[in-house]
Amino acid sequence: MIRRTLLAALCALFADLAIADERRTYDPSRGELLYSTHCIACHGTQVHWRDKKLATDWPRLLSEVRHWEGFARLKWTDDDVAEVARYLNAMYYHYAATE
Ligand code: HEC
Repeated sequence: MIRRTLLAALCALFADLAIADERRTYDPSRGELLYSTHCIACHGTQVHWRDKKLATDWPRLLSEVRHWEGFARLKWTDDDVAEVARYLNAMYYHYAATE
């Protein structure tokens, strides 16, 4: 009986680890997913490489993402905002990101 409980506990533990692992490996594209779900509708990608862009450095990029997230009332966490900013930065801006 004790062995069964132990086995069940171990299974639960490994299941948790597997889920945590999956989330971690999925993280890099989370920003992309959030962005393409909520943000791409009204501006095509060209808004991020126009000449007079508003996001002129990493802090401005973060605050633009925060602004538009608030505009769309998405209630993102700071992490969500950072993920999307990181995604946009990797794709278009290439600023030196400071956390
Ligand atoms: C209601 C339409 C709309 C939605 C939804 C929207 N945007 Fe925008 N976004 C715009 C417009 C319009 C501009 C250009 C604003 C300007 O030039 O003053 C812009 C500009 C930006 C910029 C600055 C681009 C630059 O460098 O000049 C960023 C970054 C941005 N949006 C991110 C986002 C993110 C992230 C989301 C999703 C949370 C989002 N936007 C959702 C319309 C939208």
